[in-house]
Amino acid sequence: MAGRYDVIVLGAGAAGMMCAIRAGQRGRSVAVLDHAAAPGEKIRISGGGRCNFTNIHAGPKNFLSANPHFAKSALARFTPRDFLAMVESHGIAWHEKTLGQLFCDNSAKDIIRMLIDEMRAAGVELRLRTDFGAIEPIAGGGYRIATSEGALEASSLVIATGGKSIPKMGATGFAYRIAEQFGLPLVETRPGLVPLTLDPQLLQRLAPLAGIAAPAEIRHGKTAFREALLFTHRGLSGPAILQISSYWREGDEITVAIEPEIDIFITLKTARQANGRQSAQTALAEILPKRLAQHFAEGEGMSGNMADQPDRRLQQLAAAVQAWPVKPSGSEGYRTAEVTLGGVDTACLDSKTMQVKTIPGLFFIGECVDVTGWLGGYNFQWAWASGHVAGEAA
Ligand code: FDA
Repeated sequence: MAGRYDVIVLGAGAAGMMCAIRAGQRGRSVAVLDHAAAPGEKIRISGGGRCNFTNIHAGPKNFLSANPHFAKSALARFTPRDFLAMVESHGIAWHEKTLGQLFCDNSAKDIIRMLIDEMRAAGVELRLRTDFGAIEPIAGGGYRIATSEGALEASSLVIATGGKSIPKMGATGFAYRIAEQFGLPLVETRPGLVPLTLDPQLLQRLAPLAGIAAPAEIRHGKTAFREALLFTHRGLSGPAILQISSYWREGDEITVAIEPEIDIFITLKTARQANGRQSAQTALAEILPKRLAQHFAEGEGMSGNMADQPDRRLQQLAAAVQAWPVKPSGSEGYRTAEVTLGGVDTACLDSKTMQVKTIPGLFFIGECVDVTGWLGGYNFQWAWASGHVAGEAA
């Protein structure tokens, strides 16, 4: 005899646990299954171990999707304040770091503990180290799932197995296979929030800059982010690059502006007036880290004193620093990507419940759906919100 539940959730990540909590609170019998030895492994490593668990400003504009309106309903029905209320009811200390990003004061493990406690209180059964096999619909309604622990049945089946990012942590792409099995459309998947790589020639020129970070604006078409830029041994990283990577496509150019708050041309002109005998490199080093100043000054062939530099040359130097076109050769891929863009096409889902419109009792939530947030707590907010609304309906 197969074990039977009202709701089976596949995946004990952020979305799956939130869904299970809400369904359990409604009196549904719920099991959450995962092949991992512990729930919420990505929560544990997130935000440098402190979990950027939401963004207080999260709204539909902070998400990428083929249908930018899809996320509105879930995000409105379970807001960052709702999640914060849960965090505070468990006495978890938190702080806002920057740009509305909320982090635990102590450890991401506080969030995992909170979710486990909430699941326990809601009577949810957590079944870890469980591998999934075939999924079949049962005649008359519901689903049968073959697992390493025997067959299980449920009226509602919620797929919350995440995306392809960081396979070393157990990411499998399982949700996409299930979507295909049920004939559901997929939006092409690709790595998001990921460092960008450079071709060997450019990388060699930038090698001395590895390890340097600076405030920057990175632009791709009409989209731009102002955050830190980091030069690495493989290419470009830092929050500004991770953000733009979700918009970037193979072959595209991005534009880098370092120290975007400063008008570098005006600053150099003022420096020339104040001290005509210093070099352009020295003047630039008042604004940029020394090695960066050297890189740009040498790159523009700036020799001699500032007094020798006409406005045109100072303008060229400023443009090199603040209108620098870069053509990344690729990205670091799923190995280091924080998220997977694309996934289960929202066109086949009901935005109020995350249920497949044409298949009663089948739900997709969290990262496996074609809704991807910016860096800064937005992806967890999507996991909580989509999980919550599915838990209300499953
Ligand atoms: P998630 O991936 O969390 O969970 C899926 C679960 O399914 C896992 O437990 C997995 O083991 C299980 N599973 C998968 N395939 C399976 C199979 N075939 N059989 C059995 N089980 C299977 N976001 C944010 O908002 N703030 C942050 O600070 C960070 N930081 C961060 C750091 C790093 C390093 C990464 C990689 C990612 C982040 N993120 C983030 C993104 C965030 O972690 C991500 O968006 C959510 O974890 C997605 O939640 P899900 O529940 O959808 O999937």
